[in-house]
Amino acid sequence: QITGIDALEVLDSRGNPTVRVFLQAGHGGAGGGARHGVRVSATVPSGASTGEYEAVELRDGDRKRYGGRGVQEAVSHVRGELRNALVGVDVRDQRRIDRMMIELDGTANKERLGANAILGVSMAVAKAGAVMSNLPLYAYLGGVGATRMPVPCMNILNGGVHADNSVDFQEFMIVPVGAACYSEGLRWNVEVFHVLKSILKERGLATSVGDEGGFAPNLKSNEEALELIVEAIEKAGYKAGEQIALAVDSAATSFAMPQEEGQYVMKWSGGGVKDREGMMSVYERLLDEFPIVLWEDPFGEHDWEGFRLFTERFGDRIEVVGDDNFVTNVQFIERGIAEKTANAALIKLNQIGTVTETIAAVKKCRQAGWRYFLSHRSGETEDTFLADFTVAMDGGHLKSGSACRSERIAKYNRLLEIERQLGKDGSYYWG
Ligand code: PGA
Ligand code: ZN
Repeated sequence: QITGIDALEVLDSRGNPTVRVFLQAGHGGAGGGARHGVRVSATVPSGASTGEYEAVELRDGDRKRYGGRGVQEAVSHVRGELRNALVGVDVRDQRRIDRMMIELDGTANKERLGANAILGVSMAVAKAGAVMSNLPLYAYLGGVGATRMPVPCMNILNGGVHADNSVDFQEFMIVPVGAACYSEGLRWNVEVFHVLKSILKERGLATSVGDEGGFAPNLKSNEEALELIVEAIEKAGYKAGEQIALAVDSAATSFAMPQEEGQYVMKWSGGGVKDREGMMSVYERLLDEFPIVLWEDPFGEHDWEGFRLFTERFGDRIEVVGDDNFVTNVQFIERGIAEKTANAALIKLNQIGTVTETIAAVKKCRQAGWRYFLSHRSGETEDTFLADFTVAMDGGHLKSGSACRSERIAKYNRLLEIERQLGKDGSYYWG
């Protein structure tokens, strides 16, 4: 049973306030609670290139504190309404608890209590349920079959709204498809990260990093970013493509023209306005030239037609991931499946706001034969929930940023622990 819930306003990796939830649970019955009780905490991440229909992150709006970004109201909802409703409920009844919170909030997008308040409790409930069940979190949420380690898609070059450089696309990732196991893949990636740093240094390019820990040099084009990464892969001693492939998130919502559907303005890379066909030929050239296995958000969140055309043309050779358009919401993923908008969905817990609904989004993808790509946010914390959740969902791959910044590394490190725990039972493969 849940015996106590508390919350605190803490900071995320960008120095913005976020919600940390503390939850206590004990076995029911006389005198049981305190003696056998557990206490866990969970902290909520926060995005920058957010989709319009994401669940609402409640911010105080009081300009005198943190420029309006405080979360004291969300914290007070956890300590008040959510605590009052949930104390006494069996902490292992995740679905019921999530449903109770959704009903208590009463809005379609969790704007009354705040998705940050609700998700913090939902994650804490899962963690406490795992401890009460004497199971690691990945096994509690994923069952006996949760043994597959994810391929770490490492975002080693940042652009877009995650960095202040001259690169339009947001994320350039390396994908160790040819590694024998997770820890080997992680090591390959980290070695490439260090080689890329020395290449940038040699050329007089900046080695400072963006929000997700990837380098953020000023480059002439998106092509140059990919060329540098391929060079780093080869200089590190790996075969680009066969051993380490590439993935890109263009996060095109951030350069889509707001009023003109299907029109895009890339600030850099030659600039100018591009229509869908213009964007498509940029993509075609890059996909022909580089060993890319996954592309996320090639078009803006409202441009379902652009996505459809892209999937029609490239969907049989690469994983086409929808992020801002699907926002981990079953309703939008269903539409995407019907309209063949993509062949995979990005999965972010805080886009939808409860563990149960996130699992439902994953299930929807599985039913349709889609892939699903587990993801951190650009504003992260030391919480490692995502690592366990990825294994639990049999995700196969995840993105948790680059090989520096502890909020990114914390997840990769937790996965190393899980890999060791799984031992011979663990598996690792792309696809
Ligand atoms: P965000 O970026 O967390 O800023 O939304 C991640 C992504 O676009 O995948
Ligand atoms: Zn994205």
